Amino acid sequence: MAGRHFLQIPGPTNVPDRVLRAMAQPTIDHRGPAFAAIAKEVLDGLRAVFQTAGRVVIYPSSGTGAWEAALVNTLSPGDRILMFETGHFATLWQRMASRLGLDVDFVPGDWRRGVDPGEVAARLRADRAHAIKAIAVVHNETSTGVTSSVADVRRRIDEADHPALFIVDTISSLGSIDYRHDEWRVDVSVGCSQKGLMLPPGLGLLAMSDKALAASTSAALPRSYWDWTPMLADNQAGFFPYTPPTNLLFGLRESLAMLAEEGLPRVFARHRRHAEATRRAVRAWGLELLACNPDERSNSLTAVLMPEGHDADALRKTILDRFDLSLGTGLGKLKGRVFRIGHLGDFNDLMLAGTLAGIEMGLSTTGVPFAAGGVTAAIDFLARG
Ligand SMILES: Cc1ncc(COP(=O)(O)O)c(C=O)c1O
Repeated sequence: MAGRHFLQIPGPTNVPDRVLRAMAQPTIDHRGPAFAAIAKEVLDGLRAVFQTAGRVVIYPSSGTGAWEAALVNTLSPGDRILMFETGHFATLWQRMASRLGLDVDFVPGDWRRGVDPGEVAARLRADRAHAIKAIAVVHNETSTGVTSSVADVRRRIDEADHPALFIVDTISSLGSIDYRHDEWRVDVSVGCSQKGLMLPPGLGLLAMSDKALAASTSAALPRSYWDWTPMLADNQAGFFPYTPPTNLLFGLRESLAMLAEEGLPRVFARHRRHAEATRRAVRAWGLELLACNPDERSNSLTAVLMPEGHDADALRKTILDRFDLSLGTGLGKLKGRVFRIGHLGDFNDLMLAGTLAGIEMGLSTTGVPFAAGGVTAAIDFLARG
């Protein structure tokens, strides 16, 4: 098809030309001085994105690997972990925790709301013996477009004066929605490369607190590849305990430079504005947002419910075939019921206008009942500044 493909799934996101060019370099000796300088630079830059002064590590992995690293470095077999069913990714993480031999208390949810801080408070207050060793929250549920308040969960942990570790998945919020590892006193934050960092998949990221580092000295879950101890030791000199993904790190250096040039507050404001424009379009179409609570609606993606009797994947297929635009599919129990619009990463007003135009044309081609005017509602909002 002529023209360029529109990749508007909520990750992997569009990789900017600058980043692609930065990666298209000869691979260098990962035990030499040039590599060490780059490794130190990207580790420093990542600290800024996690908003931490503490330690960060980079694994050659997907986000799932970083999930596992967060658990196996801090916990022991049979440890109780409190998790929340906010959607598909929270469910997968819970399954992983169970398979690793943790005792998961999985608070049920309807996949339309974030973590209820009141529920956190109640569970922690009831846990007088401090059996709960960790609380794990997905900050931005990529399957539902719902953002939980990490600050509120932190406040409830503090009010209960509970010593549990606080572990947060910031995979689809890092570099797109304000995320503050230090201020919110998160013990392990989990990220990856292919969302707000505008890179291809392949980097799993962690930021950890001193409390998490201390916990790792007695954590007894088996760990080898994911063990952060040799990684932290070798990183001091700019090296890795095994072969690093050198060219992805070239790309990371460039994407961190782009985020620094724009400035995180402006990056977050840009995402907020595009999310608001998208929601205005959905409302004008007369379609329903999956996220119920206005203050929990994600700034990195929007999940849209299909009218009864209409299949989201049939709509997505038409939009891909006719207009070369990829939208996110419904995951898990949302299969066929929602489509997801990714509006994160390297993205601007006209890319959003094009994306929404593709959806509006797809709605009219497939006979889904909707009102025209979503694109107009969005561009009216964007044109105001
Ligand atoms: C919130 C969240 N957590 C975890 C993952 C898993 O990451 P990966 O697919 O890179 O393993 C994803 C993937 O999209 C995600 O969106």
